[in-house]
Amino acid sequence: MAKIRDVATLANVSTATVSHVINQTTYVSPALRQRVIGAMRELNYHPNAVARSLKTKQSKTVAMVIPDITNPFFPAIVRGAEDVLRHEGYTLLLGNADEDGKTEETYYNTFHAKRVDGTLLIISPHSPTPEYLQKHNPDAFPIVYVDRFYRGLPGDVVIADNVGGSYQAVCHLIENGHRWIAIITGPLELVNARMRLDGYERALTKYRIPRNDNFVRPGRFDARSGYEQTLELLELRKPPTAIFSCNALMTIGCLRAIRERGLRCPEDLALVSFDDLEWFELYSPSITAVSQPAYELGSTAAELLVKRISGTLCGPPCRKVLTTRLMVRESSGSNSKGALRSSGP
Ligand code: RIB
Repeated sequence: MAKIRDVATLANVSTATVSHVINQTTYVSPALRQRVIGAMRELNYHPNAVARSLKTKQSKTVAMVIPDITNPFFPAIVRGAEDVLRHEGYTLLLGNADEDGKTEETYYNTFHAKRVDGTLLIISPHSPTPEYLQKHNPDAFPIVYVDRFYRGLPGDVVIADNVGGSYQAVCHLIENGHRWIAIITGPLELVNARMRLDGYERALTKYRIPRNDNFVRPGRFDARSGYEQTLELLELRKPPTAIFSCNALMTIGCLRAIRERGLRCPEDLALVSFDDLEWFELYSPSITAVSQPAYELGSTAAELLVKRISGTLCGPPCRKVLTTRLMVRESSGSNSKGALRSSGP
């Protein structure tokens, strides 16, 4: 197998020049670069990435762990991150944790054994905060939490305005005449699920609507829990006139239950979703939804991580909160169309 000195001999340059071409560590004239690349091709030489990373102390790879690759929300985040990382010369290693904390930790350990330069992490539900993240040293391996995070853990955070988006959605239902509004939450081990519940409660408080514990239902961010919780709400002696579903997959479950019970939306039961999907505006009725800037969540997080890795961003962790948009459609019983920006309570 060809070695770096064989390439140098064939290209008639020093091994240092070959190394500079491979690692882009200094300027090499186009003519010399072409001679080196030509010799690498002729000898079928491939640089040893591990040896290179030990020398440069950078592998130019970044790990990203997401909770559920089958949920369309997460690939949109990955796409935003990947576009930034590719532009900056990084390779992305992706792991799918299936909303399981142990799987997430396994991916974290595997990627760190491969000497990644940093990690983008969308956490799966853990209870309590996982020890491996408490031990994580962000100075050695920068970490950016995206969409979900743990309070008190070091690491930059990029999230959407969960509180403001939920607050606006529930105020919209109230302004449409609803007072009996239920919420199907995400797993409350997750901070963004708790933030959405907070936004719901703030809206009720603003309009002096007492919280009805029967209307606060625990979901799991999946279609089945949305379906089951909607059926249970409809069994109440005084069912709600509107449901605020805290993610798109649970909203799909709500729609299934509404259809199964032969109810009309919004006439019999209005519906607002946190998270929008492309087909929500095509459905009949079109679904009112809080749209998260998924692509920008990913691109913003990747930009932060690259700055941490390169050292151009130092100092304490920062938190970026991106604006959500309320896409007002038919399912919330409103006649108005268009998008309203989240305005925090
Ligand atoms: O659909 C998955 C949900 O969990 C989204 O609302 C997103 O915010 C993620 O945290």
